[in-house]
Amino acid sequence: MKRAIYPGSFDPVTFGHIDMIERSAKIVDELVVAVLNNSAKNPLFSVKERVSMLEEITSHLPNVKITFFDGLLIDYARKIDAAIIIRGLRAITDFEYELQLAQTNRIVDSRVDTIFLTTSLEYAYLSSTIVKEVASYGGDISHFVPEQLMERIYQKYAEVQNPKGAQNF
Ligand code: PNS
Repeated sequence: MKRAIYPGSFDPVTFGHIDMIERSAKIVDELVVAVLNNSAKNPLFSVKERVSMLEEITSHLPNVKITFFDGLLIDYARKIDAAIIIRGLRAITDFEYELQLAQTNRIVDSRVDTIFLTTSLEYAYLSSTIVKEVASYGGDISHFVPEQLMERIYQKYAEVQNPKGAQNF
């Protein structure tokens, strides 16, 4: 069985990620979407919230499983017996970092290979950072994320920007 891992921060998941998940799920037997549990990256959403959003929007894909991991990706790939890491390339600006990541992982364990899929053109500009930037100003994020997640994202900003008892100056 060909098991692949698609790791990321998914803070939050976007149409770009969903496109990658749907396409990857057609290539491999099982796709494990693994959310990085790393508080150092200061994520907007907790790992539980990110997993839950991913579960919701991939429920139509029977060979896709959502999990989370701590520590090194290569260790987690080995732990779940995944021989393939899948990453998306949006533009040449992604390439340098992704190449370094793939090569580092391969030095550590040459049995695990990284496969790159090019992002569909319509999502080439899209990132979780863009979603957060637009949502933080209450802008329209309907082009970036599924409708069922929109309210949760706006709600998170309402909580973050207006914590209970905080005064607005
Ligand atoms: O969605 P992202 O933030 O681009 O995903 C980056 C991710 C999670 C793939 C990367 O940061 C990662 O693998 N982190 C785990 C630690 C690790 O293994 N680092 C690479 C070796 S230095």
